[in-house]
Amino acid sequence: MQNFHHIDSLREALNVHREQGKTIGFVPTMGNLHKAHIALVEQAKALCDVVVASIFVNRLQFGLNEDWDRYPRTLKADSEKLAAVDCDYLFCPDEHEIYPNGMDEQAKVIVPSMANVLCGASRPGHFDGVTTVVTKLFNIVQPNLAVFGVKDYQQLAIIRRMVEDLCLPVQVVAGDIVREADGLAMSSRNGFITEQERPKANQLNRSLNDIAEALRGGSKDFLALEKAAEKQIIAAGFKPDYITICESHQLQPAAVDDVNLTILGAMYTESARLIDNVSVTLSS
Ligand code: PAJ
Repeated sequence: MQNFHHIDSLREALNVHREQGKTIGFVPTMGNLHKAHIALVEQAKALCDVVVASIFVNRLQFGLNEDWDRYPRTLKADSEKLAAVDCDYLFCPDEHEIYPNGMDEQAKVIVPSMANVLCGASRPGHFDGVTTVVTKLFNIVQPNLAVFGVKDYQQLAIIRRMVEDLCLPVQVVAGDIVREADGLAMSSRNGFITEQERPKANQLNRSLNDIAEALRGGSKDFLALEKAAEKQIIAAGFKPDYITICESHQLQPAAVDDVNLTILGAMYTESARLIDNVSVTLSS
């Protein structure tokens, strides 16, 4: 695997492949790679001739009081994991490479309809930072296809919308959620969960699954289901941020006749904010 820190040298290497008619797959990450990230790289490998992964802890998508400074940076281990699955290129730029004019004056890409709800309501500006950096990375790598995990459901939906709205020539592919044995969705932030909290940290997933079960059973009292889940999360010792049953595409609160539903949730542990989601298709 070849490692690049600079845009120009990465572009030069990728141009050679492009001229040979090879397809390029891309997996953007913030590093501290776990099995789920690696599964996305394997998915890209199966679909494309050449695969590029990126590692960049994008300060633009973190709030001032968030965990940018303590976000785990494990480049050596990450690089070994990527090489082990034959990832072709790793792009790990520094902040100046991505934001040469600083972040305050950076031109931004915003998907207004979906960026301020759910996680966006608790993390103002977060998705503007995501869509801005992903656009830049798309322009740097110019991939045919990019793989994003369903774990970050809202992020995936926003990126799909951005690609559609801006006619970006990239196919967005979804990678399934990879979970620990007890259902906890894998996340770089799981390392912040304390030993005492860990046995109950799957409560978010359990509560979302309970809602999914009730929806499949015909329940339409969305508010009551959301409230019951919040209560379960509090009883397990955590602080719910939101639990919302949404229509799967626009991410608006579900209407009684919607058949494609996604239940999204976020909760705070002592020092992490965890997210998860479960989708349900009802027969119409
Ligand atoms: P990061 O949190 O590192 O995630 C990189 C990719 O891995 C995302 O597409 C995310 O959805 C996926 N992923 C993480 N955990 C997963 C899991 N348990 N199952 C399936 N997929 C999972 O998401 C980001 O970085 C950033 O916002 C980024 C898109 C790189 C922009 O900075």
